[in-house]
Amino acid sequence: MDIAFLLNGESVTLHDVDPTRTTLDWLRDSQGLTGTKEGCNEGDCGACTIMVADSDGAKAVNACILFLGQLNGKSLTTIEGLAQGDQLHPVQDAMVEKHGSQCGFCTPGITMSLAAAHLNDDRNHDDVLAGNLCRCTGYAPIIRAAEDAAQTPVPEGFDPTPGSLPEAADHADIARPETSEALAHALMTSPHATLIAGATDVGLWATKALRDLNPVIFLNGVKDLKDVKIGDKDIRIGAGVTLEFLRKVIAPLHPHFAEMLRRFASVQVRNVATIGGNIANGSPIGDTPPALIALDATLHLRRGNDRRAIPLEQFFIDYGKQDRQPGEFVEAVSFPRQPDRLRVYKLSKRFDQDISAVLGAFNLSVQDGAITDARIVFGGMAGIPKRASHVETALIGKDWSEATVRAALPAFEKDFTPMSDMRASASYRMRTAQNMLLRYWHEDQGHSTSVLEVQS
Ligand SMILES: Cc1cc2nc3c(=O)[nH]c(=O)nc-3n(C[C@H](O)[C@H](O)[C@H](O)COP(=O)(O)OP(=O)(O)OC[C@H]3O[C@@H](n4cnc5c(N)ncnc54)[C@H](O)[C@@H]3O)c2cc1C
Ligand code: FES
Ligand code: FES
Repeated sequence: MDIAFLLNGESVTLHDVDPTRTTLDWLRDSQGLTGTKEGCNEGDCGACTIMVADSDGAKAVNACILFLGQLNGKSLTTIEGLAQGDQLHPVQDAMVEKHGSQCGFCTPGITMSLAAAHLNDDRNHDDVLAGNLCRCTGYAPIIRAAEDAAQTPVPEGFDPTPGSLPEAADHADIARPETSEALAHALMTSPHATLIAGATDVGLWATKALRDLNPVIFLNGVKDLKDVKIGDKDIRIGAGVTLEFLRKVIAPLHPHFAEMLRRFASVQVRNVATIGGNIANGSPIGDTPPALIALDATLHLRRGNDRRAIPLEQFFIDYGKQDRQPGEFVEAVSFPRQPDRLRVYKLSKRFDQDISAVLGAFNLSVQDGAITDARIVFGGMAGIPKRASHVETALIGKDWSEATVRAALPAFEKDFTPMSDMRASASYRMRTAQNMLLRYWHEDQGHSTSVLEVQS
């Protein structure tokens, strides 16, 4: 595959490269740009953070799980491209001034995350740094550096989103469709190709499982999969919408969904990870499916010219098994506009950047003090994202009261037989799932929930 992009402002065209080679490997091994570090090689530590820009702006991204094929037509800035001559970037200056570095291994990645935030005037520095691990400086001096740098404007001449982006190579390449029409055709031609959207799952198949992913089809150029349509009756989110973009657009409608997404991985991951990828990978601990099912979501699938729409919950058949045929892809997910009663509770060992042990999504309708409808969905409690149907039945038609909630708690045992693993024991999962329902009730009543426990 031919790939063209800008690297620190210079035009690069690669001919006949393996599109699944990681950007990190290429930068370090082929370009000698070793400022971008390799730590975990799985998107967790942020040592490899670079900045990738296109017409949507410049974003921090992890180079270790970014394939070269995803870079076509984009502008890439590494730590080596931050200073202009002898003039350090304001973030670099502030990191020096505020003693933001000790061993320094994490420092280039942190500096790139902060430079992207500085460019975008994002001052939520705790969130910005959630995907950058530093184990010796401590975050306080780094945050001080970020706050200090925020007082200085972006230097003139520092422009990772140049007016003229490079001419992308191979527009007509079947592996790089630009419309869902072309994608449908490509997948019919090559029905067993690996679809790559943000590569935040697929990237690890290459870096950790050492799998050969070819043939591949990249989705990040398919423009019409990136639309969010907020209509009077429903909301439709294209499969290619990134989780960071979704977080921003969903916040006014369902703030608890947005708050959960703030804890979904890190900024670097959310900047490329898509909603389609989170659904299609079928993980029992994927964070968006329970929230979407609680919102009564419909999944829109396409194979060639055939389209079908199914309730999202029916897509997940069994562990590792989804209702998707060869040649079929996820086009969008939609759900009805509704009054916001959705709450999503994510429980993980670490607050930031951690996979859920249990995630509960609750969406109850209450009229005149009685529960008229209930959609309660869990991740981490079964081999698939699963509704708590017995709990729902135990609630519907009853008074919306603590007594009703407590009376429904035993029904959890009918719905779930959770497993024990390194994230949580089965009994812990069961107890916390029950507690989440109680929490939903208490929060709905305006009570504090910080030390709540199920009384047995
Ligand atoms: C450090 C780190 C932290 C993470 N934290 C979380 C977390 O907190 N919560 C969570 O849920 N996940 C987490 N993940 C997992 C991952 O980020 C998500 O599952 C993400 O949504 C995947 O989206 P993607 O676009 O990167 O998918 P990809 O990796 O590109 O693809 C994932 C799967 O979906 C398929 N696919 C992609 N798009 C389509 C489509 N349109 N139609 C059909 N198939 C498609 C691919 O072929 C592949 O099988 C984390 C991952 C990393 C590396
Ligand atoms: S090397 Fe750790 S996130 Fe890339
Ligand atoms: S300075 Fe040593 S890990 Fe960050």
